[in-house]
Amino acid sequence: MQIGIPRESDPRETRVAATPKSVVQLIKLGYEVLVEAGAGSHAAFPNEEYEAAGATIVNSDMIWGADLVAKINEPTDSEIASMKKGACLISLIGAPRNPQLLEKLAGADLIVLAMDSVPRISRAQSLDVISSMANIGGYRAVIEAANVFGSFFTGQVTAAGKVPPAKVFVSGAGVAGLAAVGTANSLGAIVRATDIRAEVAEQVESMGAEFVAVEAESQQSTDGYAKEATADYADAAARMYAEQCKDVDIIITTALIPGRPAPRLITAEMVATMRPGSVIVDMAAGTGGNVEGSVADEIVTTANGVKIIGYTDLPGRLPTQASQLFSQNIVNLMKLLTPEKDGQLTLDLDDVVQRGMLVAKDGAVMWPPPAVNVSAAPVAPAPPAPEPEPQKKPRDKRVTYGVLALCALALLALFTVSPTGLIGHFMVLMLSVVIGFYVIGNVAHSLHTPLMSVTNAISGIILVGCLLGLILVDQTASLFAGTNLIILILSVLGILLASINVFGGFTVTQRMLKMFQKG
Ligand code: NAI
Repeated sequence: MQIGIPRESDPRETRVAATPKSVVQLIKLGYEVLVEAGAGSHAAFPNEEYEAAGATIVNSDMIWGADLVAKINEPTDSEIASMKKGACLISLIGAPRNPQLLEKLAGADLIVLAMDSVPRISRAQSLDVISSMANIGGYRAVIEAANVFGSFFTGQVTAAGKVPPAKVFVSGAGVAGLAAVGTANSLGAIVRATDIRAEVAEQVESMGAEFVAVEAESQQSTDGYAKEATADYADAAARMYAEQCKDVDIIITTALIPGRPAPRLITAEMVATMRPGSVIVDMAAGTGGNVEGSVADEIVTTANGVKIIGYTDLPGRLPTQASQLFSQNIVNLMKLLTPEKDGQLTLDLDDVVQRGMLVAKDGAVMWPPPAVNVSAAPVAPAPPAPEPEPQKKPRDKRVTYGVLALCALALLALFTVSPTGLIGHFMVLMLSVVIGFYVIGNVAHSLHTPLMSVTNAISGIILVGCLLGLILVDQTASLFAGTNLIILILSVLGILLASINVFGGFTVTQRMLKMFQKG
């Protein structure tokens, strides 16, 4: 089967649905890949690279005559008309807002798989272009904000004085929001984030930001997306947004409820309280906007000098990266559709992922698919009944005391037969055991190994002993003869082994302690 990769007809589109790397993977699945001349030019993938990967560079007519066409954006009427009956189209479709397009696709007798209708279940994550594009969008939103923000993101101490870090507030901690949190954090800003789903607090905090909770009950639907806010929640949220607007320098809004216009979170009055020079990126500007006053694809500067960015093409502003991820999502879909790796498309309508993406087939509109019931916060299963703990046999105290008494007797016997000098050494040993017990007992288990390796330094005593041994050599006789030779060999050997122990111990300790150091 042939897969055609067209040049995108939307003049603003910079992405392409296949990269040279993805072409190699599609060929491995048994497909013949045709790429329209210049298709990857905006994303820095020249024709020669596609050819080197095994694709054939062709003109537009041949692409649209292929058995399967994979592209980024919704097809135009003329593109639909150029496709063969029964051919397959894979692209973004925007099914919920495009019923007329769905009718046209079904009317043209095409099999259409919508890349933006992948069900949000873990098994389908590798095909989810919405997530891969939102991830890029969240990153780029911070870069766009930094581009028009007049100060550093990170705090600095310079010769001229201290510069405080920028404060960034992210609303909506889904894919785009978390990407924005991570990016702003890595640029050194103080980052805060909020979400209607309180369970994402942990994720926000794990990315180095503070979670700002709304003092009202949070909600979540069964499909992993948020539900519309109640009036109570909206009031409490409005108070929280009003406070944040007065405090922060940059706001990035990503709040989304699937199938609904973007929730309005920040009003013009709130924007009016922000400091001049502050920046808002409204990622939802294309679907109604989370921020009053944002305009799709424009930067609006308010009367008090706040810039509101409403770009709707943020992933396309990173065309190489976006094409790489988009094309990888397509390759992952093709793997699913080509189980035999024989270059033949096999559609399995019992598979929720394939059925979820299928929007037209055999002249019929197949959207919406049957609901898939998944939850980002699975209901915790009831804890299993606790197993009865095995009854520990209490240790017989008489045995313990008996052992101790035996040890004491043995020690006493040892003292009576030992020479007086040895008893002194013995006391030192006993005291060392007691001190060692308390020292090691107060060191965390994880630090026991470095502690043991640093105690290798005790071998330093052997070094001193060996050096002293060298003093014992008979000065009148040759160093390499008789007893002198034995002393020399033993001392050198002792010095060598003890040095290995001392220096090796310190090196191991240092390496192990590094594992416990932050950063
Ligand atoms: P997502 O569904 O992963 O995340 C949306 C988050 O908003 C969810 O965590 C949800 O709980 C939260 N949310 C919903 N209502 C809320 C409320 N009232 N208050 C606080 N949080 C609320 O969506 P994803 O993929 O992260 O996309 C986010 C937005 O970014 C969407 O509107 C999407 O269309 C847009 N987008 C825009 C791009 C651009 O170029 N401008 C590029 C990619 C995505």
